Amino acid sequence: MKQTPIIALDFATKEEVMTFLAKFDTPLFVKVGMELFYQTGPALLEEIKEQGHDIFLDLKLHDIPNTVGKTMEGLGRLNVDLVNVHAAGGSVMMQRAVEGLRRTNPDTKIIAVTQLTSTTEQQLHDEQQIDMSMEEAVCHYAKLAQDSGLDGVVCSPLEAAPITAHCGAEFLKVTPGVRPANAAVNDQKRVTTPEQAKALGSTHIVVGRPITQSDDPVASYQQITESWVGKW
Ligand code: C5P
Repeated sequence: MKQTPIIALDFATKEEVMTFLAKFDTPLFVKVGMELFYQTGPALLEEIKEQGHDIFLDLKLHDIPNTVGKTMEGLGRLNVDLVNVHAAGGSVMMQRAVEGLRRTNPDTKIIAVTQLTSTTEQQLHDEQQIDMSMEEAVCHYAKLAQDSGLDGVVCSPLEAAPITAHCGAEFLKVTPGVRPANAAVNDQKRVTTPEQAKALGSTHIVVGRPITQSDDPVASYQQITESWVGKW
């Protein structure tokens, strides 16, 4: 799995994706989320792979263990590099997810969403009725994911340090909410620069709009890559 910034391909159509990818002459690590996957299906993944890019298929599975296990068995055949589930589905669901994936693919990494970064501490208490701090809740789910055999979590860069303390440096911390110092924050609430994400222990960063909506996506990608890899 490449360690370059993961570009979130938040486009609605295959044409937009292909136009965007054609601007680059180096292999990338891209994220395909549910918006794109549900509209274009697995065929698009194959085309992206054929161009030499790594893929994080961000479908955030959350269902009963049997369904998630069988679905992961199918996703394993797509030969993507990284997939994910919601830790809230529980340890048995996560174990079945790993077992299902391994039946068809020995290499694809699997990580868990702990708490969505759009969830506030207030919602955690009032709606989910979880009576602990966000950091404690996130670290609890990270440990549960690790004990269930997963390779890491999706989290805010601001949560990467406590997760490293609980789960070790090797445990993947894939972090969206990253912005270069001079870029628009958009709707992200808790952001860091690539350098800060690295210092806090992120193992991979996910960046969307600062690259996809840039006037010069290649230059923006190179700038973000330099500030990320430079501190590696
Ligand atoms: O454009 P931007 O850099 O904000 O894109 C971040 C990407 O990461 C989006 O695809 C978003 O859905 C995803 N993401 C996130 N926060 C999470 C999980 C995923 O921003 N907690």
